[in-house]
Formats: sequence, C-alpha cells, structure tokens
Amino acid sequence: MLVVLISGRGSNMQALVEAGLPVAAVISNRADAAGLEFARARNIPTAVVDHAGFASRDAFDDALAREIERHRPRLVALAGFMRVLTPAFVESYRHRLLNIHPSLLPAFPGLHTHERALAAGVKLHGCTVHFVTPELDSGPIVIQAVVRVRPGEESGELAARVLRQEHVIYPRAAGWFLDDRLVIRDGVVRVKGDDAQLVLAAD
Ligand code: GRF
Repeated sequence: MLVVLISGRGSNMQALVEAGLPVAAVISNRADAAGLEFARARNIPTAVVDHAGFASRDAFDDALAREIERHRPRLVALAGFMRVLTPAFVESYRHRLLNIHPSLLPAFPGLHTHERALAAGVKLHGCTVHFVTPELDSGPIVIQAVVRVRPGEESGELAARVLRQEHVIYPRAAGWFLDDRLVIRDGVVRVKGDDAQLVLAAD
C-alpha cells in the first residue's frame, strides 16, 4: 500500500491509481487541490492537512505523519507536493519516500525546470523518480525518462511531453518498490531482474 501526497492537479497521482497500484489514501496540504476530486470519485480516502494552520514546519510535518500513519503505508509518494519536508520527517521515511521531479537530476533541481532547461540550451531533458533525502530534489535515482528538446520548442510544449513520461515512469518505480525489487547501495539504485531504469521517449 502507498499514500500519495499532492498539492495541486494530481496527474501523477492519477497515473499511479490508473496503473492499478494500491493507493490507500491521497493527502493534500491544500483543500483546493484539483487532484482530490479525482481521488474522491474513485472512493480513495482523502485528507487535507493545511500547512497554513501550523505555526512551524515541525508541527505541520508531525500532523502530516500522523495522517499518513493512519494508513500504515509501506511507501509514501510525493506527487507535486509543494512543501519542503523537515529532515526529521524525511529521515523517518528513509528509503520509503519517493518523489517525481521534472528534470534529469542532478540538473535543474527546484522550480521552473523546463524554462531553465530551455534557457541553458540543453538538447536532452526529462524527468526523474528518486528517493527523497533532506536536500531538495536529491537522493538515489530510481528511473529517468529522457525527451529530446525540439528546436524552437516552447516551455509549455516541452512540459507536456515531459509530463507524459512522468506518468510512465512513476507507476513503474512505485510498482518496483512495492514488489521489493529496489536495492539501494552506496546511493545507487538497482532493480532486481534488471528492468530498464531509463526510458527514451519516442517523440
Ligand atoms: C509534476 O511536473 C511533477 O514532476 C512536479 O510537480 C508536477 C506535479 O504535477 N513535482 P501533477 O500534480 O502530478 O499533475
């Protein structure tokens, strides 16, 4: 079982659900996250833990952890969850917390990745599923998908092509985790059975 944390649209959460993964609950830090509607329509338990109601990051993360632990998940998946988590929270979910990031990490951690990739003139861009460590958008890489940047491409078009790949690799990574197929050694992730940890987008 996994619990998915969202803040907005929730298309990656939707991809996890539609892949048939056992999503026990969807938790958002914003009551207006569009993804909550999808989860409710699928009868998946939802909860809102609004960060604005807490005086400190520690207090918010404690409340979040309590909500997560009601479901006793093996895995917690961040899917567009726009809050930086405290090192204590991250540590308590060590090697059980995944994130999806819209760049080929370690390039372009943080926000506005597509605009920054275009501004840097990179020819390859993509997305990464990684285990979460206290440092933002870092941690052992589970799988990456690569898209070729088209000459003159706008960031919106590039973002859409990357997002399609996000929806491919996140369910794959979460499935591997739940099937006990991920091995982390010296910060490097291997998949038992040697499934490909690299997807090359066809378009
Ligand atoms: C995705 O691009 C994801 O990589 C990033 O935030 C976005 C969330 O989109 N972390 P969605 O809410 O999953 O549609």
